[in-house]
Amino acid sequence: MGKDVIIACDFSSKEETLAFLDKFSGKKPYVKIGMELFYAEGPAIVQEIKARGHQIFLDLKLHDIPNTVKKAMAVLSRLDVDMVNLHAAGTRAMMEGALEGVTRPDGTRPLVIAVTQLTSTSQERMQEELLIHAPMDETVMHYAANAAKAGLDGVVCSPMEAGKVHETCGKGFLTVTPGIRFADGDKGDQVRVTTPAQAKEIGSDYIVVGRPITAAADPVAAYERCVKEFVG
Ligand code: C5P
Repeated sequence: MGKDVIIACDFSSKEETLAFLDKFSGKKPYVKIGMELFYAEGPAIVQEIKARGHQIFLDLKLHDIPNTVKKAMAVLSRLDVDMVNLHAAGTRAMMEGALEGVTRPDGTRPLVIAVTQLTSTSQERMQEELLIHAPMDETVMHYAANAAKAGLDGVVCSPMEAGKVHETCGKGFLTVTPGIRFADGDKGDQVRVTTPAQAKEIGSDYIVVGRPITAAADPVAAYERCVKEFVG
């Protein structure tokens, strides 16, 4: 499995998204489609971007009872996406249901990645509101281990956690890491950030990069800089 840079296409309309992708004339970067764009434009936007030749990470973070997630995943797998995700908090039964649902009749399936604890959840809120009393890093590793036991392919995590996830779940267990900024870039609302080169060094398998590329004066140059630093 090759390392790759995934562009977070956090746009609210098809027009904006396609105008952005048109700038990459000839190049076909791996793109992440999230809830905002999917709910605005529906499955057609996924099919359209796929038909243009891009690989797609469909970031919808499913979390429901196992049977519902299994059936929803079966529908998503028909969109021919390359990566989907869900919340590990849904338990191993839900993750196993997801894998069953997402597997196509010919045995192929997209990569299935788990969200452990959202990076927007602080340890304090997790302990006080969710009554999860273990420290954050222990909780994240435990959820990652559950995902691995359920047969999932990896987790979304901070690049800073990627090394420990590999130690806990094995080298082949994928780490998909947002929170990437260039050394000379603006952090925005992200707090714990690394550069693409640092993410490579720590062992991230995929980096997810939004605003450093989408808001750059020259998005194609910014993407190429990411690829150069991360993939080499
Ligand atoms: O613009 P930026 O590079 O911060 O975008 C990062 C992308 O990764 C966004 O789509 C964001 O929702 C997503 N993400 C994240 N942190 C997580 C999970 C997903 O930043 N823990």
